[in-house]
Amino acid sequence: MFLHKKTLVMTTLIMSLFVMVQVGNSSKPTGEVKAIIVDSVQIEQDLLFAQINKSFESVKPILENSCYDCHSAMTKEPWYFNLPGINGLIIAHIEDGRRHLDFTDGFPFKSKEPILEILHELKEEVEEGEMPILGYRIFHWGSLIEGEQQDVLFEWISETETALTQFYKKHNIPYKSE
Ligand code: HEC
Repeated sequence: MFLHKKTLVMTTLIMSLFVMVQVGNSSKPTGEVKAIIVDSVQIEQDLLFAQINKSFESVKPILENSCYDCHSAMTKEPWYFNLPGINGLIIAHIEDGRRHLDFTDGFPFKSKEPILEILHELKEEVEEGEMPILGYRIFHWGSLIEGEQQDVLFEWISETETALTQFYKKHNIPYKSE
């Protein structure tokens, strides 16, 4: 009788241990499951970026007018391009500008910095009237982004920052906001 009870306890213990291991295993994603989870986050991000890229169309003309000459592949050669000494200077500016920030393929913009940081800088440069650079503004009256255009651009930046931050928080993706 005693022996029988002991066997029963042991069997129960082993069985529950087995169940625990099974449950433990099933709640921990295996390599394959993990890959699927990562894929779904990637897909969600692609969809979000596509959505943002679509909304970007509403502010694109503002940037095309003021920034694309140096921050995209869509550079219009200006009339003063062939003045002696100017040509090399402009090319250097364009190369430098594009290295920092490139709007050519829409959102997300190409840059060495994380997208939230670049959005923050974009706003800062326009807010402080630092961009377009002075030498460019002299030849391009009206290229400063001011007034209503500035409001539209800043609203788009703010909406985009909110959407991105929400996404990163939801998926515990580390991010820096500026
Ligand atoms: C004449 C060329 C030119 C034009 C036009 C121009 N930029 Fe720039 N931009 C540059 C250059 C060169 C740099 C890099 C050096 C610097 O920061 O001054 C730069 C840097 C920047 C940076 C900083 C990126 C970083 O990584 O720090 C931002 C943001 C920026 N530009 C935004 C704009 C915006 C917005 C416009 C339009 C309103 C604009 N730029 C128009 C030449 C230009």
